[in-house]
Amino acid sequence: MQSDLFSAQTPADKAPEAIKIENLRAQLNRWAHEYYVLDAPSVPDGEYDRVYQQLEALEAAHPELVTPDSPTQRVLGSVLPGLAPVRHAVPMLSIRTETDTEATGAQAFDARIRRELGLAQADPPVEYIAEPKFDGLAMSLRYEGGQLVQAATRGDGEVGEDVTHAIRTIRQIPLRLPADAPPLLEVRGEVYMRGADFERLNQRQQAAGEKLFVNPRNAAAGAVRQLDARIAAQRPLSFFAYGLGEVTPQQQGGPRFETHHALLQQLRQWGFPVAAEARIAHGAAELVAFHREMGERRAALPYGIDGVVYKVNSLALQRQLGFVTREPRWAVAHKYPPQEMVTTVQAIDVQVGRTGKLTPVARLAPVFVGGATVTNATLHNLFELRRKRVRVGDAVIVRRAGDVIPEVVGRVPGERAHYVPNFHMPEACPVCASAVVREPGEIEHRCSGGLFCAAQRKQALLHFASRKAMDIEGLGEKLVDQLVDGALLHSLPEVYALDVEQLARLDRMGEKSAQNLRAALEKSKHTSLARFVYALGIRNVGEATAKDLARHFGRLGAVMDADTDALMQVPDIGPIVAESIHTFFAQPHNREVVQALLDAGVQPLETDPLPASALPLAGKTVVLTGTLPTLSRDEAQALLESAGAKVSGSVSKKTHYVVAGAEAGSKLTKAQALGVAVLDEAGLRALLAGQG
Ligand code: IVH
Repeated sequence: MQSDLFSAQTPADKAPEAIKIENLRAQLNRWAHEYYVLDAPSVPDGEYDRVYQQLEALEAAHPELVTPDSPTQRVLGSVLPGLAPVRHAVPMLSIRTETDTEATGAQAFDARIRRELGLAQADPPVEYIAEPKFDGLAMSLRYEGGQLVQAATRGDGEVGEDVTHAIRTIRQIPLRLPADAPPLLEVRGEVYMRGADFERLNQRQQAAGEKLFVNPRNAAAGAVRQLDARIAAQRPLSFFAYGLGEVTPQQQGGPRFETHHALLQQLRQWGFPVAAEARIAHGAAELVAFHREMGERRAALPYGIDGVVYKVNSLALQRQLGFVTREPRWAVAHKYPPQEMVTTVQAIDVQVGRTGKLTPVARLAPVFVGGATVTNATLHNLFELRRKRVRVGDAVIVRRAGDVIPEVVGRVPGERAHYVPNFHMPEACPVCASAVVREPGEIEHRCSGGLFCAAQRKQALLHFASRKAMDIEGLGEKLVDQLVDGALLHSLPEVYALDVEQLARLDRMGEKSAQNLRAALEKSKHTSLARFVYALGIRNVGEATAKDLARHFGRLGAVMDADTDALMQVPDIGPIVAESIHTFFAQPHNREVVQALLDAGVQPLETDPLPASALPLAGKTVVLTGTLPTLSRDEAQALLESAGAKVSGSVSKKTHYVVAGAEAGSKLTKAQALGVAVLDEAGLRALLAGQG
């Protein structure tokens, strides 16, 4: 099928060079389609380059044989003086936007369609097509005699701009169509920039000292309107087709489609990229499901979407429904809450984290973005702030996507009305006034105050109490703020000296919650060595490293006294982590904290030191999936780890066992496909007992 898509259409009486050239072009077009549209290259890049150079050489020798649809002719020479207006033969419509919630948005649309079509309740569901709403620019591509002759922006829908020179550089867009395409064909779709391409482009811009683009949409819009095709060619654009404009009429041999779905299939056959996510949906319920599913997949998609589009599938019904002014009645866009919004910076403050890291934070005029009201957004560090040129009073773009903390993406270009001083990192910590330092080669500024700094103490306490550390239920942020700010707590160990009476006097605490917290404190004293070591908050020591340390050394004293050589004997611990651990325990005040915790009654469970390789499951990687009949996931993981196994989150060829419980999903399927051994809980217990 793909082979006749790109076969050379050359009459037999042509010169041998002409035939050769045609064959090379067909070959290159086929490979480019595989690479750029199907994402499935069949030859290495070097082979493409070799054939491309062969074609270039032949064309140089025979300039009379060069045609505009040759793959060598994507970037045309001269810089344009401006963009010419283009009147659209068929107007480019917009779509009505439904901003209602998931269910009501789709239901309102479906109800309206059913009413307009005069359907009764008992009639079957209407068939729709649900598509992603691509976040780019609408484009109309005009093909005459199978050749791309013009690309135009939407403009006001009636008149757009001629951007053919820039669009020709998009290698997903065919310059020529297969022979079965109608003599006149306008393909409508969206030009956009993939997230990964956008990141790479900005890295290049930065390396070259050029200005950065704020988001993929702006970068795409700028590239499309570039007057110099050579510059446009360096901005990696992509395209999705989703409709038609003017087409050869049916009476003159033009195509006839029954459904929008069939139209999309045909566009794909003609070589255009069509989103694989587009699918048929019956009735409102399946539209709602699509909206929800795309909302969940949104962050992981390689391209940006700002919503979904629902369209009536039957073209006959589309005609029956018709238009209101410039919007079709048969389609609606159902948007997601925007992930980016513009607001103003009211101040730039500095926040101090657990390890003393200073983070510049923009205080913002409140703005609703990504489904929540945002008043603070991170500027990450001084270098990011400088790169983005943000100052107080600036209008900035704020982004909040999924669960990621809100960040300032960049400032909205424009002159400042008056002078605003640049932001500087303070020389003294805003919380404890200790010196702020920046290690050579590091980006981050840090407070040198350590646990003397209240901000670091608060964070250290929160970390100490967190679920994977000492697991002290009820010791949250609000309480920690009160304890540290109210001078009830100066060091970690003092937390165990708090009594019910003191606690009950705090804001939002009563006798009952004070007693609960006291009980949680008592309970936390019986813990594992791994949790205790993790809870200390040693730089570079996460949960996994703490477990490795506990397993290897067995006793707290041994961990505390190990030198860097001894530490590096632990599997997975390298020089940097070893140095962090050694430095931590070399400081007398840290040893005092540990001693005070032990004196307060904390008893990390010690074991005999075991070299990891002596454990029964040493070197084995296990993946847990689904719900086991009696063991919780944490319990199963702890058992496996104490037997020396590594518990991983994803299945690969390197996985030794998959332990599957009820409702195991894709991990089980993958294990079966890869031939990885699958165990149930009984099998797991046998394995742990050394009988696996
Ligand atoms: S269909 C008659 N489908 O949304 C309907 N538009 O206001 C014509 N868009 O500017 C458009 N993804 O650029 C359609 N899957 C999709 C789309 C889509 C994005 C844009 C389009 C237009 C706007 C509609």
